[in-house]
Amino acid sequence: MGEIALAAKITHVPSIWMDLTIDKYRGIRENAITALSEVGRRAHARGVETYVILDTHWIVNQGFHVNANARHAGTFTSPELPHMLSGMSYAYDGDPDLADAIAAEVRGDGFQALAHRDANLNCEYGTLVPMHLMNPAADIRVLSVAANQFASIDEGRRMGAAIARAIAASGRRAAVLASGSLSHAFWPNAVSAEGLFTVNGEFNRQIDLRVLELWDQGRVAEFLAMLPDYAVHCRGECAMIDTAMLFGALGWDGYAGRGELIGQYFGSSGTGQCVVDFALPAG
Ligand SMILES: [Fe+2]
Repeated sequence: MGEIALAAKITHVPSIWMDLTIDKYRGIRENAITALSEVGRRAHARGVETYVILDTHWIVNQGFHVNANARHAGTFTSPELPHMLSGMSYAYDGDPDLADAIAAEVRGDGFQALAHRDANLNCEYGTLVPMHLMNPAADIRVLSVAANQFASIDEGRRMGAAIARAIAASGRRAAVLASGSLSHAFWPNAVSAEGLFTVNGEFNRQIDLRVLELWDQGRVAEFLAMLPDYAVHCRGECAMIDTAMLFGALGWDGYAGRGELIGQYFGSSGTGQCVVDFALPAG
């Protein structure tokens, strides 16, 4: 039987790449870099074979999609923020078998779900930025899952539950990573450059901090009760569908673990960011 050996909410902000590649920005994202590297260390220590990444930058408008390519390789420049993230080379093995199994299980729950083998379907930076730090030797397979921006929180729950069932039946030790922000209100263009390190609005910052507190205290049922409102009022990245799928995979309000914040909560261009490792039942 397979198992979810690690579950985490993770940041993927492109300013991580600025820190790594542009001298004048060196050190600005040390907190995030250290935290993502630590999650990668834990994944390796737990024998993770495949990272299943719920990628809020692979945005789809219909159904459920996974990248089933056997190999992901190329050089990535972000069309969205090309001045921040360019020239990132990557090469990882994919996991076509698990991708097929996940798509089949999600389809079995009534969704249109497709596993794509298409050499022109590349990974997005919600996958690639974390992988650069969590998978430096490229020794863990990479499986990107798209984020449906029009799916409801409850559909995300069902998709996540199906992902967990597919992993359980697969024989794989997998990590499930929700790659997306907490609040996600970009600063207006006129002030965006000076907002590189801040959250847009005290309301969003306070709600994010409350969410982290609830996770730390294991009060997941309370968090899930507020998640639909949180996604709307704090402008969740891709409507927080990654978070819905993550908790769906963990068992939704039956999940009894706690979320450990690794490093510090931080602001980035208006958005609220974190790296949180969710404890799993002893396998
Ligand atoms: Fe993002």
